Amino acid sequence: MLNFDFYNPTRIVFGTDTIATLAELVPHDARVLILFGGASAEKTGTLAEVRKALGARVVHEFGGIEPNPSFETLMGAVAQVRGEQLDFLLAVGGGSVIDGAKFVAAAAHHEGDPWNILQTGGASVTSALPFGTVLTLPATGSEMNNGSVITLKASHTKLPFRSPHVFPRFSVLDPTKTYSLPQKQLANGLVDAFVHIVEQYLTYPVHALAQDRFAEGLLQTLVEIAPQVMGETADYTSRSNLMWTATLALNGLIGAGVPQDWATHMIGHELTALYDIDHARTLAIVLPALLHVQRDKKRQKLLQYGERVWGIASGSEEQRIDATIEATRNFFESVGIPTRLSAYDLAAPAVAAVLAQLESHGMTALGEHGDVDLALSRTILETAL
Ligand code: NZQ
Ligand code: ZN
Repeated sequence: MLNFDFYNPTRIVFGTDTIATLAELVPHDARVLILFGGASAEKTGTLAEVRKALGARVVHEFGGIEPNPSFETLMGAVAQVRGEQLDFLLAVGGGSVIDGAKFVAAAAHHEGDPWNILQTGGASVTSALPFGTVLTLPATGSEMNNGSVITLKASHTKLPFRSPHVFPRFSVLDPTKTYSLPQKQLANGLVDAFVHIVEQYLTYPVHALAQDRFAEGLLQTLVEIAPQVMGETADYTSRSNLMWTATLALNGLIGAGVPQDWATHMIGHELTALYDIDHARTLAIVLPALLHVQRDKKRQKLLQYGERVWGIASGSEEQRIDATIEATRNFFESVGIPTRLSAYDLAAPAVAAVLAQLESHGMTALGEHGDVDLALSRTILETAL
């Protein structure tokens, strides 16, 4: 195991009827900006509960944060924070709204061009407004981490940033708030969380026994609950397990001290930026192809993953690896998510376009070995056609 510094200050309040606890979680003298997305938070009554819990505090609202939140939209919220001298943000929504809040929190304190926050990957962030979240979509883990992904619509640029200053102070996780989610978003949540675990687990062995077993347990949980999560009626057991598993998938715990990949995510971000494919859906396209192309470098972990998560223990190593990649692909397909570019009518010209984007964003040494250069990304994308 390598050296690590594990830091996570986010408080989690989990369970039914927990939104009322905002009354205590948000500082009493806070001047609050509630951030939300489109119509869902109002329609489901979540915003009404939030407003009620905030009571007599000064509360302003900023809606309209879109999936894959844009710099252009979020700068409107930054202007509102400054204009109204607001000092606490409350994100009510999924990963996009929470990521948006992280950006607004950092940008409100940033001197100079805030796009610089993305260009430096967060290194230019020296402080940020405090914020909390109310999660309505289990998927990204943003509710308990310090990462955020923002899109500059003008140039189709989707870039991540990280900073110790943008951990949420708290996140309220009420699984009943997921009952209104459409099947598509539930499937996205399962797959995004699954791939987050894989990105931190499926690299090469470093004798991190607990991280491996945690990761395998989380993967098995997602596989086990998927049929219930995708079922006709919402049930608390599967939704609460999805919510906590997705949070644990990307809160630093399983990634502590282990090599990490993230090539699937970086290539996926370009597919979203160019073709507006949902984040999780891009991952389902890239990951099976990447595992196939990287099978030699990931051999030991692929065999371990196949045996421990999918029970694949017989046959030659090559057969077991093929079966393992197939099981992964089938899992994504089983929740209705396609795993080929062709499902989105994308062919060779899209491969060239994604490669050009990767190059212009400096994504030329991806993966746990830094060996996913443009040539390897090309092979991965061609395998995914
Ligand atoms: O906009 P509204 O009307 O609220 O509808 C949203 C949105 O259209 C809807 N929704 C959310 N909660 C709902 C609901 N509909 C009904 N009932 C509810 N309870 O769901 C749609 C998608 O929401 P979004 O927030 O975009 O989805 P998700 O949580 O999957 O977030 C995706 C974003 O997170 C980034 C992605 O790149 C993408 O931009 N990621 C952030 C990460 C992080 N911060 O650590 C890691 C991830 O890898 C990911 O990159
Ligand atoms: Zn993701």
